[in-house]
Parts: sequence; C-alpha cells; structure tokens
Amino acid sequence: MRIVSGIQPTGNLHLGNYLGAIRNWVRMQDEWTAQGHDCLYFLADLHAISMPHDPAGLRAGTREMVAALVACGIDPERSILFNQTQVPAHAELQWLLTGTARMGWLNRMTQWKDKAGKNREGASVALFTYPVLQAADVLLYQATHVPVGEDQKQHLELARDIAQKFNNDFATEDAPVFTLPEPIIPPEAARIMSLRDGSAKMSKSDPSDMSRINLTDDADAIMQKVRKAKTDPEPLPSDAEALKERPEAANLVGIYAAMAGCSVADVLARYEGQGFGAFKPALGELLVESLAPITARYRELRTDTDALDAILAAGAVKARALAAPTLTRAYEALGLLRG
Ligand code: TRP
Repeated sequence: MRIVSGIQPTGNLHLGNYLGAIRNWVRMQDEWTAQGHDCLYFLADLHAISMPHDPAGLRAGTREMVAALVACGIDPERSILFNQTQVPAHAELQWLLTGTARMGWLNRMTQWKDKAGKNREGASVALFTYPVLQAADVLLYQATHVPVGEDQKQHLELARDIAQKFNNDFATEDAPVFTLPEPIIPPEAARIMSLRDGSAKMSKSDPSDMSRINLTDDADAIMQKVRKAKTDPEPLPSDAEALKERPEAANLVGIYAAMAGCSVADVLARYEGQGFGAFKPALGELLVESLAPITARYRELRTDTDALDAILAAGAVKARALAAPTLTRAYEALGLLRG
C-alpha cells in the first residue's frame, strides 16, 4: 500500500493550512510508515503555473512550504518529500496520459469551470489539463490511497477513469499498467475561518493580518489576535446546534476542538455559559502552547535555503527511483521506443 498526495506551494502559511491539510498528512505518515507502507508527499509546483504567477514568489513559496511541512512534522527520513519539477517523470507521464483522457471528461471538471469562469478562451491550456497532471502524479507511483480534501474528489475519480481506460486499451487484465487509487477524505478536516469574518476562509491573501494566525507568529501576536477576534456578546451555548447562526463563535470553538483533538460538544461541555472574556484567553493559551514547537522550527528553517534544497534533492532521488518502472511500462505499452 502506498500513499501519495500533493499540495500547491504557497508562502505565508497559517493555522488554516495546518489544521486543514498538513496535520492530516503528518498523522497518516505516522500511522502508515509505522506499518511499513510508503508515504510520498510532494509540492505541486508544476500545477502552480496553470494560473498567472510570479516566478520569484513560486520559488520562495516552494521553499517555504517545505519548511512548513517539516516544521509541522513531515519527516523527510520517513516520508518521501519532493517537488514535481525535480522528477521529470510527472511531466512525461502527463503527456502520455493526454492520449487517453477525453476532452469531455476534462470539460466536466468543476475546478476547471470555476477557475476559468466565463473566460475559457483566455484560460491556459495547463489549467484545462491540470487534472491529467494530477492523475500522472498518483498513477506514476502505483498509489493505492490518496488523501485529499472533498474538493479534489472529482480529480481523483478522473485519475481512476484514465487508469482504467489506459489499462483497457493498452494492457492485459492480468498485467495492468496502473493501480486504481482510492481517495481518503478525512472526516474531520477542519475548515478554519477568518478571525475577522466567520463566513470567509482563513487566507494568506486577506489584507488584514489580524484575520489569520501565521505559522511565523510569536506568542504575543497569537494572544493578541485571539483577543481581538470578532465574536458576539452571547455566552457559549450548551449544544453545537446553537452555534449555527453564530459563525465567529463557531469558528473559535472549532479551532479549540481541532487543536485540542476533541469534539465541539466536548468544548461546549467545558465552557457552556461562559463568555468570550474567559474563552478567548483559554483558546489563546492552547494555541500558543501547541503551536510553539512548530512556529519555532518554521521560523528557523524557512530562511535556511541550503537545508531546504537538500531536503528536496534527497526526496527527488527516492521519488525518481520509484517512478522509473511505471514510466517505462507506460512508454512500452503505447509502443513508444525509448532505445
Ligand atoms: N490539486 C491538488 C490541490 O489543489 C494538489 C495536487 C496536485 C494533488 N497533484 C495531486 C493532490 C495529486 C493529491 C494527489 O489541492
């Protein structure tokens, strides 16, 4: 069994990134590698050029993301951590798979429709073929399981369709070229909202720095941001249902639960009837305490370019070795002579 997953490199990582995707990767690494399975985690830097981007920002963001992943607990000794660019087999297999993927399949992708919007003529070809590269990312390694958010489920189904059609068209039943990967959608993937607006996701592009907890924030900044977070004057209710109409309150309770590793009901059982004057300092302290080792490591690592580049180089060596046999089989199955 083998886990493969990718994440687009962005800089300025925050609590939403940690509780959303990264922490789940760390948990899976800890469980799966202990049982002798492989975990491959990569930065989808090739995907990043499908939208308008700034090259210097991509370069810096890729290194920052490596720093964040390692600071959060991805261990490059146990997991294979790399970026797509240093494993050319991703781009090669993508081209091979574009012969199998159908225009109609890609036209149905909701992410393509959302991101291209009304201006399809002006969208990049890379944005359209994005899901084919994503299929190559996982099929290349014979991934059995792919942890992704709900929004990526459709791309995973496409990867299965491509694998199935390729196997059908170019392989025999007893010797398929590709494994059909299963998505793993974490049930409690925490959705962390802005501290200033409970209806907007916590985001690095929010102009207000008070809206997010950055992985570079120190204890004082974290306490201050939680203290100033938008709330309402009501005390905390006794059941989660009553938080439905109170997005900011729900967000803070949700952050507490995600950080403490308990349920919203557990948090309410403890704080019911108390106002935010009492709850906010408790949340702030919990965040400071749990994030301290991560933020310290992140601040130290993110400027150590040599160490980060060495991690990516070592990961790429391992990934290239795992990718080679499948790429060779795909070329052969298609009748392409590599000499
Ligand atoms: N498209 C994914 C996202 O935006 C990132 C990604 C690229 C990915 N390749 C992948 C995720 C392969 C899982 C497997 O989140």
